[in-house]
Amino acid sequence: MQTTHIQRLSGTNLGTYSFDEFEERKQELARLKEQASSFWQQEKTVLVAHGIQNCHNILDLACGPGVVTRKIKSLVPDSHVTGVDLNESLLNVAISDSQQDDFESPTFRKADCTKLPFETSSFDFVYARFLFQHLCDPDAAVTEINRVLTPGGRVVIVDVDDRDLNVTPSCSSFDQLTRAAGFFQAQGGGNRHVGRTLDDLLASHNFTNVTRQVQVMSSDQIGLDSFFRMTTQFKVEQLPKELAGQMRDLIPEIRRELASMNATISAGIHVASGLAC
Ligand SMILES: C[S@@+](CC[C@H](N)C(=O)[O-])C[C@H]1O[C@@H](n2cnc3c(N)ncnc32)[C@H](O)[C@@H]1O
Repeated sequence: MQTTHIQRLSGTNLGTYSFDEFEERKQELARLKEQASSFWQQEKTVLVAHGIQNCHNILDLACGPGVVTRKIKSLVPDSHVTGVDLNESLLNVAISDSQQDDFESPTFRKADCTKLPFETSSFDFVYARFLFQHLCDPDAAVTEINRVLTPGGRVVIVDVDDRDLNVTPSCSSFDQLTRAAGFFQAQGGGNRHVGRTLDDLLASHNFTNVTRQVQVMSSDQIGLDSFFRMTTQFKVEQLPKELAGQMRDLIPEIRRELASMNATISAGIHVASGLAC
């Protein structure tokens, strides 16, 4: 198989998301933080519906810069919350930002989600947000989730499915960028259509009470520009260098086109859940 940009990055098991390889790291960090904050109210409702407030040991798997990890800690202050990620730069941001909080910090730790450094049955809730689309071996991650959860413990996995990413009215340059990003992510072993597979994935690992629902996020909630920045623009970073350059030049044009049409972008975010056996 041809070696792609993303495959070269995956030597560290970071799959198709290597923050340190982004050209615009400051921008990407701001995007991760903005995305985690903008939809927190909606996300909190989902987590509460899955009983997070009754849990004592919560793991945020692939916590990135820890924004959601800290929000979980403030939501369930009496619980012990741990955030793990394989990327040290993002973990350092999480640790440093959590020092500003007026509540106890979560524990942040470097770990690979396919080889977790925790005893069997250490957690009663595991949350994984926008991780699975990047994994070359999602089965290995689910095996580990099952192992570290207590029997009956809950997993919630949130991820995209680009078949539910829509622009109205349609915009061909937007489609060109999202198609190219999906193609190269798949070449690197990732999957931007992972959303619809998540319930089957959990069921195949003997999780019980498996559910999957779709939450719709839309640019009507936070504005077209912010929504585009958070869900689409960053994808140029995941393209091979030459194509990334071309697509980066296309961004202002896509923005103008979307604005002139007064377009709405919507994304279906899949939320799968199950209980460990
Ligand atoms: C798109 S970011 C999502 C971060 C965070 N969950 C959020 O929603 O803001 C994907 C994260 O997965 C992490 N990651 C990728 N592969 C990993 C692995 N094998 N083990 C642990 N973390 C991993 C990356 O470092 C990155 O922080």
